[in-house]
Amino acid sequence: MSIAIEFKSVTKKYPLYHHITGGFKNLILNLPKAVREMKQSSFVALDNISFIINRGETVAFLGRNGAGKSTTLGLIAGVLKPNLGRVTIMGRVSPLLELGGGFHPDLTGIENIQLNGVLLGLTRKQVAQKIQSIVTFSELGDFIFQPVRTYSSGMLARLGFSVVAHLDPEILLIDEVLAVGDANFRRKCLEKMKEFKNKGVTIILVTHNPADVDLLCDRVIWIENHKVKMDGKRAEILPIYNASTQ
Ligand SMILES: Nc1ncnc2c1ncn2[C@@H]1O[C@H](COP(=O)(O)OP(=O)(O)OP(=O)(O)O)[C@@H](O)[C@H]1O
Ligand SMILES: [Mg+2]
Repeated sequence: MSIAIEFKSVTKKYPLYHHITGGFKNLILNLPKAVREMKQSSFVALDNISFIINRGETVAFLGRNGAGKSTTLGLIAGVLKPNLGRVTIMGRVSPLLELGGGFHPDLTGIENIQLNGVLLGLTRKQVAQKIQSIVTFSELGDFIFQPVRTYSSGMLARLGFSVVAHLDPEILLIDEVLAVGDANFRRKCLEKMKEFKNKGVTIILVTHNPADVDLLCDRVIWIENHKVKMDGKRAEILPIYNASTQ
């Protein structure tokens, strides 16, 4: 088996924001202490996490809001860097477009497809060849000619997933697209993801819906309190996870 993703003792911290509660005078008088406190105060979003995902595995990341799932995907996509430890990725990773990141709000849907297509390494000709199919898949109709800032979250998810579905990733990252899509689009996404799975693409899915995990994923990594709580076969982990959320 060959490795697609390896996290080795990965810690990710975000800076915390400050209020100068004691006033400026106090801040200046105690400057060294104030600077030290500011440097120290960061929030640990992922705390010393390790796992290996092999090529072709389909893995669901589960856990409560704020557990660190999207942070994990950001590290895999390379848009975040770990503070400690090492992230190793072997293969082309799909971009995280589903929730609108990567789209320019003032450009129309179609302009965003063109822009992202080129940014993601397609030639203009390839973009031109795919654009009709992307637009059709999205079912956005005439809204494709409207600026993306006018889109609902479901419409943004449609646009993002439609672009991703027309790329040729080796590692597919999906963060909650199924949660905001309506039933019809959800079905379409799941079918497309199954196609990717059958082609041997490594799939990383973040969801709050156990039914999606059942349909698509063979393995579950459960994140709790910014650490891996359980990691194993879906059939073993999902019942325990479900029981814990009752
Ligand atoms: N840019 C940021 N700056 C500061 N803190 C952040 C930032 N992004 C995330 N965090 C914090 O890191 C923690 C993990 O966030 P993350 O988005 O990874 O959670 P999640 O598991 O995806 O949650 P959800 O299910 O709500 O999407 C949260 O406590 C969040 O507040
Ligand atoms: Mg998230």
